[in-house]
Amino acid sequence: MAPIPISSIKVGHIDDVQELRKTKPTIIPDRFVRDMAERPTLAPAMPCSSDIPTINFSKLSKGSKDELESESSQLAAACENWGFFQVINHGIDLSLLESIEKVTKDFFMLPLEEKKKYAMAPGTVQGYGQAFVLSEDQKLDWCNMFALGVEPNFIRNPMLWPTEPEKFSGTVEVYSKEVRKLCQNLLKYIAMGLGLKGDVFEKMFGETVQAIRMNYYPPCSRPDLVLGLSPHSDGSALTVLQQGKDTSVGLQILKDDRWVPVKPIPNALIINIGDTIEVLTNGKYKSVEHRAVTHKEKDRLSIVTFYAPSYEIELGPMEELVDENNPCKYRRYNHGEYSKHYVTNKLQGKKTLEFAKI
Ligand code: OGA
Ligand code: NI
Repeated sequence: MAPIPISSIKVGHIDDVQELRKTKPTIIPDRFVRDMAERPTLAPAMPCSSDIPTINFSKLSKGSKDELESESSQLAAACENWGFFQVINHGIDLSLLESIEKVTKDFFMLPLEEKKKYAMAPGTVQGYGQAFVLSEDQKLDWCNMFALGVEPNFIRNPMLWPTEPEKFSGTVEVYSKEVRKLCQNLLKYIAMGLGLKGDVFEKMFGETVQAIRMNYYPPCSRPDLVLGLSPHSDGSALTVLQQGKDTSVGLQILKDDRWVPVKPIPNALIINIGDTIEVLTNGKYKSVEHRAVTHKEKDRLSIVTFYAPSYEIELGPMEELVDENNPCKYRRYNHGEYSKHYVTNKLQGKKTLEFAKI
């Protein structure tokens, strides 16, 4: 096969990982090869490592009083001990989960020239490309990404909403409404589990911001050398992650200083606490660091929704969660400023939250 001219596989100044993969490189380009300390250990997880908790949403939304109580306390424990959980019986139609997965996959399978029409402009975070790349010597993730602002309307860039696949934009629209409802409901139960009024977050958040990021991880001949997605916490209040149907491995969370793989449950959604809830709860609930690893033969897809407060609001630990045993750990700040700080820094564990630490 004739070598592909290197300039044609770039989006902006970054190599497009899917195109790179098509060349079946036997040597992974240096920019993707992680330093020793960052490389994923591919040893099988310890047999004793427990998996992240499962929450049965239907018991919260339409269970008996007893079911509601016991599921609420499981939810509270999941938030406090894990920061991550999988939701089953979440009420979103399986056919909608399938549709969003299909249009996402179809989008990533379009020719690069087509996807480049939606290329992420320098200094922005929406569109096709890798955000959070700020220097030439920064290591790159083995991943292609497509991100869109969804709500409120003013964060949208209509030029970036694909006309192909035909059903893409309509499906994102319907899916986002459903995921939004789920976030609102989960935040209600999370608030109640903290002994607060169910609507505290909704009232506090103002006009909430919702964004979607689709991640496509091509197979990698050397999964031991690269990361699909760098370790980070999410800058949201809550994040909802849907994985491709045939996912076996990929997402890992940092638990007690070990990377624990999240074992997918078919049709479940994975929820995690973001930085906003960590700050509001004064660290009682933490936004846990996570990353994605790649697979030698299998590709993987994830569809990630970030749900966050309005950029306008000021936030800091809620007074109900601060006392002499739990002194205030974070300062008050404007959420818009935090968001800006988050997207203008590289993903580096929980470093962005230092912005808010006292
Ligand atoms: C994210 C994220 C993990 C994954 O997009 O913020 O953590 O498995 N994704 O794709
Ligand atoms: Ni994340």
